[in-house]
Amino acid sequence: MSPKIIVGNWKMNGTKEKVHEIAHALTTYSNRLSHEEIQNKTQIVICPPFTLLPLLAECLKETPCLLGAQNCHEKLSGAHTGDISAAMLLEFGVSHVILGHSERRQNHGELDSIIRQKVTTATQAGLTPIVCIGETREQHEEETYTDVLGWQMEGSLPNDFSGILAYEPIWAIGTGLTASPEQITETMCFLREELIRQFGKSGKTIPILYGGSVTADNVSTILSIPEVAGVLVGGQSLNADTFLHIIEYQCL
Ligand code: 13P
Repeated sequence: MSPKIIVGNWKMNGTKEKVHEIAHALTTYSNRLSHEEIQNKTQIVICPPFTLLPLLAECLKETPCLLGAQNCHEKLSGAHTGDISAAMLLEFGVSHVILGHSERRQNHGELDSIIRQKVTTATQAGLTPIVCIGETREQHEEETYTDVLGWQMEGSLPNDFSGILAYEPIWAIGTGLTASPEQITETMCFLREELIRQFGKSGKTIPILYGGSVTADNVSTILSIPEVAGVLVGGQSLNADTFLHIIEYQCL
């Protein structure tokens, strides 16, 4: 079985103190097991705000944990006040970048076309993009909500996409409402079919993560679903004890 991918998205949270707290927990964990044992079971990616990346990179350098960012610009440099490029992230040892999160789509008006450009630029720079898609509650209540997911995928994923896809139903983010295993399985199967339709053979191997109110209590159930390659964890990635429970999940 491939290692499950566990991504912590801190969003606009965290302090230097939080970095030390989480890094201490992850270092203790990685001292307990060999790096090989950890890498056989999980690939851990922590995505703090930009300002904490250098400190977290320093604190995690003895662990197998990887570093991710929460966004980047679609250009590599230029007159884009307040933005950060993929090239800048690489300089700090970042390997992954979350793109098209629903909070950016909603709060910053990020359209599929911009996300697609970001994915291309990030990939060319050498980062692994984690592209988020998801439907609102209203869309979910309509039978055709998978159409919305299909359109988001067609719009946001470039033709040579080789990153990670994350399914995050918007109604499950930060609400405590997790999609049921049946709902997750059904949607994941749809997404896989759609990936194969869009990308042919390479669509078979693109990992698909689930995100939305993942907790220490439900992570084992979610990761036991064969179609789920990993989880994207928001709020619960900021508590060292809880996050440790999540990465130490036991498949049921
Ligand atoms: P929560 O885990 O807080 O619901 O957030 C999910 C998310 O948006 C991760 O990107």
